[in-house]
Amino acid sequence: MATSEIALSGTSRLLLQKKKDISSSSPRLYNSFIRQRSVKFNAKSSDGQKCFRLAQIACSVAPSQTQTPAPAPAPSTTTIAPDGSKRECFGVFCLTYDLKEEEEPKSWKKLIKIAVSGAAGMISNHLLFKIASGEVFGPDQPVSLNLLGSERSFGALEGVAMELEDSLYPLLREVSIGVDPYDVFRDAEWALLIGAKPRGPGMERADLLDINGKIFAEQGKALNAVASPNVKVLVVGNPCNTNALICLKNAPNIPPKNFHALTRLDENRAKCQLALKAGVFYDNVSNMTIWGNHSTTQVPDFVNAKIHGKPVTELITDTKWLEEEFTEIVQKRGGVLIKKWGRSSAASTAVSIVDAVKSLITPTPEGDWFSSGVYTTENPYGIADDLIFSMPCRSKGDGDYELVPDVIINDYLRERIKKSEDELLAEKRCVAHLIGEGIGYCDLPGDTTLPGEQ
Ligand code: LMR
Repeated sequence: MATSEIALSGTSRLLLQKKKDISSSSPRLYNSFIRQRSVKFNAKSSDGQKCFRLAQIACSVAPSQTQTPAPAPAPSTTTIAPDGSKRECFGVFCLTYDLKEEEEPKSWKKLIKIAVSGAAGMISNHLLFKIASGEVFGPDQPVSLNLLGSERSFGALEGVAMELEDSLYPLLREVSIGVDPYDVFRDAEWALLIGAKPRGPGMERADLLDINGKIFAEQGKALNAVASPNVKVLVVGNPCNTNALICLKNAPNIPPKNFHALTRLDENRAKCQLALKAGVFYDNVSNMTIWGNHSTTQVPDFVNAKIHGKPVTELITDTKWLEEEFTEIVQKRGGVLIKKWGRSSAASTAVSIVDAVKSLITPTPEGDWFSSGVYTTENPYGIADDLIFSMPCRSKGDGDYELVPDVIINDYLRERIKKSEDELLAEKRCVAHLIGEGIGYCDLPGDTTLPGEQ
């Protein structure tokens, strides 16, 4: 027993005797057990002073069994870390559990910090619970969730943190919430940048690039200053390729290879459509590349994709369907969904973020690959340097990736890849002022839009 500060209550003793059974039979119960133990924590006293005290937390013990009820910590508490950084920890996650090392499950890895922006939004609402459950980083990986919101969404952010508390996830060891990226991104090993402004009525695409670009420039600077130097950054907020480039350019201390723009949703959509056409289940579709921008110029590559290990074109011989219908369905899927739902995709986006992260932390199956928007410099496909462009990647499962060299790029693909490249070069010119390349000048091709803009 690690808690030496105070005597155990009768309830705690009983729980201790049962600890072995509980921990081996049910992680949820084990977590509940941990939460009922004597703990010490930092909290604000009623006059706002920071104080240090001992308390007993009783989450699920019937009132008759409890001794003195614990004073509930403030829902959200600012703590000052030894390095001087501020942390807005939340509720039960402000508690510092006094566990000796041997009491943690032996198989658990070292805690990792994951920062999520747009944390009060719909995509995060699906994603955070997957991360907390262990579905993303594994059942032996304790996680710290550091959630970035805005002043306007702060109440909702607290609501999210409350739901995370109430879910009693054993692997979720820390939750902090905040509105300052310099606080929230501190020591982050993963940054999932979801928050961005959607395009509003009368807003030009160039306006969106500028407004969101500023957000990502600021977040890039914050990551550069306070995140782990090897932080992996996945940009979801649109226009995600250019936002990722802006973020990268504002974070010179972080390797450019660590920046990704989410095109996994497009890959998943493409696999689904090919499976549907071929009459197979979608896990039989592999080697699916999305080339280019997460926009309607993206190129879902049926030339290199496979079904049951054979080229798609051997099973789906309707070339007109592949070149026209399939391609357009995938390019515009986001927009069709917005029409049906009245809002952007959220659950499937969250699933694709999970897929994208897992693709980097698990070895890619032999012969297969996945798509991610990554840095183009030194790519083997002849795509212009210094862009974030979706390309085929493989990973050894160490968080890093390599580009797949031996793919066919025929005239059909080359022509379309070029169009997406032109669009990204135009987007880059628009945000020149945000990437240290002079004055921004927008000459965006009029017919290219985000998947959701039609
Ligand atoms: C999607 O692909 O579903 C979204 O990126 C659409 C959008 O424009 O928000």
